[in-house]
Amino acid sequence: MSVILAIESSCDETSVAVCNNGKITANVIANQTIHQNYGGVIPELASRVHQQNIVPVIQQALIDAKVSKKDISAVAFTRGPGLLGSLLVGVSFAKAFALALDLPLISINHMHAHILAHFIEDPKPNFPFLCLTVSGGHTQIVLVRDYSDMEIVGETLDDAAGEAFDKTAKILNLPYPGGPLIDKHAKKGNSLAFKFPVPQIKGLDFSFSGFKTAVLYFIRDHVKENPNFVEERLDDICASVQYSIVHILLNKLRKAAQEYGINEIAIAGGVSANSGLRAALEEEAQKQHWNVYIPAFEYCTDNAAMIAIAGYHKFLKKEFVGQDIAPTSRMEF
Ligand code: KG4
Ligand code: ZN
Repeated sequence: MSVILAIESSCDETSVAVCNNGKITANVIANQTIHQNYGGVIPELASRVHQQNIVPVIQQALIDAKVSKKDISAVAFTRGPGLLGSLLVGVSFAKAFALALDLPLISINHMHAHILAHFIEDPKPNFPFLCLTVSGGHTQIVLVRDYSDMEIVGETLDDAAGEAFDKTAKILNLPYPGGPLIDKHAKKGNSLAFKFPVPQIKGLDFSFSGFKTAVLYFIRDHVKENPNFVEERLDDICASVQYSIVHILLNKLRKAAQEYGINEIAIAGGVSANSGLRAALEEEAQKQHWNVYIPAFEYCTDNAAMIAIAGYHKFLKKEFVGQDIAPTSRMEF
């Protein structure tokens, strides 16, 4: 019997989930709208809002899961990577909660948890599988051998795919986070209307900084000729940018699958909510005979259910940490 309470606070979502014997019974997410007008997450504001949200979110999760504090077996929390001020709120709360109730603590890597979100519901991928993990801060191809044995075989040398979406949105005067809005407009546009350069990066790594600059110059040049260019062609611009990003990602994923001879392919992280990426992956799966695993929308962007399921698998192995644990912004720990 195990009831894991899990806390996620790495960026701008305060989330708490409960995992009861391997099943998610609560997943409460408080989004922070305060960052919308700034074009990105303001770390100082994010940590203050986590501080306000954490207690009500914990209380709601316990109500949803129909458990009380005395039923909890362990407390799992995101140790990193993420914004240090934001992580500090979740880590400190988890430590205090565990200390008060004399419970074991479980430290979780946020990027591993995005991948382990695939073990919340069926169908679950078979080990070893390749996971394209695409979020606001990371773009990686990960070889997943086991719940805790993961190797990054390709990653971005500069910006993340989510940043390419968010920065394009900012150039187009769309509010943060822009990814979902680009997706929405792309559905109404022509993805072949405009062409953007594909970065030529060796191996399985990615680069999006040149792409972002190309979009910036493209918009600037067209607006010089027609000040209403963005308003008039917004759907086509969004569709074309999305198409390019999706194809940069899929080209490398195809290469990785060939190199490692693996046909179990998953996607994870906020950008895996993108409808263009989801559709293109399904199409590629047909061509390449891949078994693809695409998370439910609620488990793509940041959530504590993924921390809870990752915590459950560590709980089974009794992988606990002491009260001296501290948050980290490092990817590997
Ligand atoms: O995983 P996540 O919630 O947070 C991080 O760990 O970074 O990912 C957030 C990122 C943002 O860049 C957001 O714009 C992007 O995921 N995103 C999307 C979509 N939904 C979220 N990007 C493209 N299309 C979407 N539908
Ligand atoms: Zn994330």
